[in-house]
Amino acid sequence: MSKKEELNKLEKKMAKDDSLPLQESNLVFGEGDPETDILFIGEGPGFYEDRAERPFVGRAGQLLDKLIKGNDWSRENIYITNILKRRPPNNRDPLPEEIEAYKPYLKLQIRIINPKIIVPLGRFAMNYFLPDAKISRDQGKAFWLKDKLIFPIYHPAAGLRNSSVLDSTWESFEKLKKVVEKYDELVEEREIKRKETEGNKETEKKEQSLF
Ligand code: URA
Repeated sequence: MSKKEELNKLEKKMAKDDSLPLQESNLVFGEGDPETDILFIGEGPGFYEDRAERPFVGRAGQLLDKLIKGNDWSRENIYITNILKRRPPNNRDPLPEEIEAYKPYLKLQIRIINPKIIVPLGRFAMNYFLPDAKISRDQGKAFWLKDKLIFPIYHPAAGLRNSSVLDSTWESFEKLKKVVEKYDELVEEREIKRKETEGNKETEKKEQSLF
């Protein structure tokens, strides 16, 4: 089965799963190229995303489009999804139990796409992968988690509210482009470090449960 077919199957399964919270909203599974190296993950659908059943189509989505285009990429050659696949009422923050409930599907989605780089947008998506990270300190930096590079960036909605956050977001996208370009070098560096710290099974076990 191709990645596209696997994702379609997963989406259908999810649509039928009425044990998932936020059933009053539409399912926004995600979209893009399943063969991509770069996976963007937001927090959860908002009003416009719920209506269109597509991720990042509102104002924050329009800014995300510009940022993506600024790197000479397009939505067609990356993949975009969210931690929560249905909109929380009035766009409130995701609850820990909602994140937990959607986790098995997110894990499968990540496993199918199997990107090299995951870009969490905003603190909720970032803390899913890096529970101890702080968005103002750690966005725009690359972190290895198992065999994936995690590169958190401010949520585009934060950039719409604050011009210095917006400047940092543009800078982080520039850095992300460089990280993508020198990915193979970073893998080599990681291999050297991995050999030095081999045997840290506790860390590995913790990392494994996320995707
Ligand atoms: N904010 C998100 O986190 N995700 C979307 O899809 C839209 C807005």
